[in-house]
Amino acid sequence: MNILILGSGGREHAFVYKLLQSKKINQIFVAPGNAGTHKIAKNININPTDFTAVKETILTHKIDMVVVGPEAPLVDGVHDFFLDDDELKSIPVIGPKKDGALLEGSKDFSKQFMEKHNIPTARYKSFTKENLNDGFNFLETLNPPYVLKADGLAAGKGVLILNNLEEAKAELKEMLTHQKFGEASSTVVIEEFLDGIELSVFVLTDGKSYKILPSAKDYKRIGEGDTGLNTGGMGAISPVPFASEDFLTKVEEHVVKPTINGLQKDGIDYRGFIFIGLMNVDGNPQVIEYNVRMGDPETEVILPRIESDLLDLFEGVAHQNLHEKSFKVTDKIATTVMLVSGGYPESYEKGKEILGLENIDGSIVFHAGTKLENNKVLTNGGRVMAITSLGKTINEALETSYKNIDKISFDKMNYRKDIGFDLQ
Ligand code: AMP
Ligand code: GLY
Repeated sequence: MNILILGSGGREHAFVYKLLQSKKINQIFVAPGNAGTHKIAKNININPTDFTAVKETILTHKIDMVVVGPEAPLVDGVHDFFLDDDELKSIPVIGPKKDGALLEGSKDFSKQFMEKHNIPTARYKSFTKENLNDGFNFLETLNPPYVLKADGLAAGKGVLILNNLEEAKAELKEMLTHQKFGEASSTVVIEEFLDGIELSVFVLTDGKSYKILPSAKDYKRIGEGDTGLNTGGMGAISPVPFASEDFLTKVEEHVVKPTINGLQKDGIDYRGFIFIGLMNVDGNPQVIEYNVRMGDPETEVILPRIESDLLDLFEGVAHQNLHEKSFKVTDKIATTVMLVSGGYPESYEKGKEILGLENIDGSIVFHAGTKLENNKVLTNGGRVMAITSLGKTINEALETSYKNIDKISFDKMNYRKDIGFDLQ
């Protein structure tokens, strides 16, 4: 089969790496891809939200299946575009249609969905500029800290957590009346603060049955000890040691099953990944958010632990016989450490040559923001590459990742030296 993967990050490189293990693969194309995917697949330099260009690629390269990495093409309706086009409608897309993608595309929608289907989540209300005063009144009924969320996609920046009531009111006003996050904050969800330990659970579903993928925890802050600004993710560990069997059973019963059943009841035919952000509050899961895609860098620790054929699982999603597919995960622990450009997540320079990649031994290098120029691998983004290792223990895996990182260098390279610090 010929597969097209949309996206350009470490997540997409990990998809290529894992899919290439399948005997059924003929060729993999990545749009637009990076220097890492260029080495093992064929990059196509188009924007994944340019659906006309995606169609041309599908027809030119006789693509049999499309796997969508990031949320933007899904929220924009890439799957619906395929179903509406006579030449594309028989080609399976791994990723939900617009209706399902709203679980990530609108926080208000996802909260209504959870409430309707009795899925545990923080108490909330939504507001627009027309009822700003009701928003102020609702804030007064809550205890600090106050959680304000822009309804729409805001590149991971749309959530504010504030300790002070006056500050929360001022930010609410900024979001609603001054469009602090543009269109995304024309509706704002205000919700109760959940106090607990955060972790994520990933599900692959064909709309009827599902497989729960290995749990993973990412390290979102730029600084050691979880300090400083939020990033896309500086590293990840799978599985999460504090996710006990008892807790994961509660997640399956109280969150996963009602989510899949709720989608069916609401007539949403969902084929793809669901990334469930959870808070463990006194041993009980509460949903913080849904994403309609895999996490990055969580994918870089989850996929290397899956022993089953990923293409076979994707075919199960496409043909709605996922329940017949075998699903095996290794007991080994996976760790990944993200190398980033100096300055990230604020401004940073690109185009720095990355040296030492030929010396890597025992780790998998997943490229994120890289490009190839004159046979040199150059930095091309904030998050540059994820160094993944497997081991019998977290320490063993981390040691391998850090030993290999010592061999890699580029100007102003930065990374966290304490990934997994809280779990050993
Ligand atoms: P989200 O974009 O919804 O994942 O929110 C970003 C981050 O804000 C989450 O990863 C949590 O760390 C935090 N967060 C979101 N909602 C809550 C909440 N209700 N209580 C506590 N922390 C939250
Ligand atoms: N690592 C978090 C995300 O992909 O949203």
